Amino acid sequence: MDPQWKQFYKLSYLKRAKMIENHAHLNSDEDGLISKNKNEVSQNLIENYLTNFSLPEGIAVNFLINGKDYLVPMVTEEPSVVAAASNGAKMLSQNNGISAEVINKLVDGEMIFKVSDKLGFENFIKDHKSEIIKIANQSHPSALKHGDGAQKICTRSISSNYLAVDMSLDAGESMGANTLNTMLEACSKFIAKKTDSQLLMAILTNYSAHALVKVVGKVSFDHLAKSKKAGKMVAQRIAEASEIAQLDIKRATTHNKGIMNGIDAVAMAFGNDFRALEAALHSFAANSEKYHGISTWEVQREFLVGKMTIPIPVGFVGGATSVLPLVEVNKKIAGIKNVKEEMKVIASVGLAQNLAALKALVSEGIQKGHMNLQLKSMALANGAKPKEVDQVVAELRKQSSVDARSAKKIIRMIRSGKRE
Ligand code: MEV
Repeated sequence: MDPQWKQFYKLSYLKRAKMIENHAHLNSDEDGLISKNKNEVSQNLIENYLTNFSLPEGIAVNFLINGKDYLVPMVTEEPSVVAAASNGAKMLSQNNGISAEVINKLVDGEMIFKVSDKLGFENFIKDHKSEIIKIANQSHPSALKHGDGAQKICTRSISSNYLAVDMSLDAGESMGANTLNTMLEACSKFIAKKTDSQLLMAILTNYSAHALVKVVGKVSFDHLAKSKKAGKMVAQRIAEASEIAQLDIKRATTHNKGIMNGIDAVAMAFGNDFRALEAALHSFAANSEKYHGISTWEVQREFLVGKMTIPIPVGFVGGATSVLPLVEVNKKIAGIKNVKEEMKVIASVGLAQNLAALKALVSEGIQKGHMNLQLKSMALANGAKPKEVDQVVAELRKQSSVDARSAKKIIRMIRSGKRE
């Protein structure tokens, strides 16, 4: 690579932006886009900052969770996600809404050691638990600020010569990632010094088995289709789809992806690390014999009942949640007051998203309901100006099949004043 990029991170914002402009031969419109979207808060968040890349934010409606109504901000580029979440939430709201319960909220971590005397090492940890907890809680100023600090120290064998020392943190309102990592580094140094072992690493785990939320919701047959009879059939087909997601890894992955469409979008709106949520869901879904769909749906008497226990490792304070300006606004829109409420809302969106997807898939198919939004997106992707979109969509609807070529042709015709 050209040596000029080696010191890139040391340069001022203006010099960096100029280098990018020259390198990519950006024109003045493109430069303007970069400078219009940059801001000072973000400049301090990441290295080699250039600009802010924005995504659409929409508000999902109809959420009734534990008896309270919620508007839910969602950040996503996928056209159908907000509409589907609102639609799933509407179906679930008809019978007392979604019930959500936080089972636990800890962040877990591990210190991995190469050990020759496993028994001696295990005994050392057993005998020094309170000392290790004390070291952990003294290592970070926020250790006891938001929650009850370090806990649950135990050893776990990984292989014949590797052992993990597991530790959890009650980080209260924060996610706790940084605090726990500092704790783990401090404790692991102490352990390595006092035992005959070699420390390999100390880091939190995104396998978030102690940040679980359980959500349950039900829909009566008449809210799944126009008639009760048709609704019963839809319910049975959704239950079958749920069963298939327990058996087939290909379907399970897509089933879970649909759930994450909603979860990631809300997590982003609240300033959380959505990669942590992704990692947590997929590892949790693989925690039994085989990777499976994380939610289940079954027919119970007159109802379709959905259940899901899902890891939601998020924070209400700290990290990006305290820095990104829209996060506070989004929390205000949602009316959420603490991390447990946030976890419940996020998990509920996952369940509603899943219901809407399954219902569409087993009845009319996914494309029909999404067509309008997809055509809008196609119009924009092929050069339509926002004010031209409705007209382009109306013309696209008249076509038997649509693609980029037909969209471009329609845009040209509209601009030249002609019609198809
Ligand atoms: C698309 O982003 C998500 C779905 O594929 C989810 C699913 O199939 O369950 C519709």
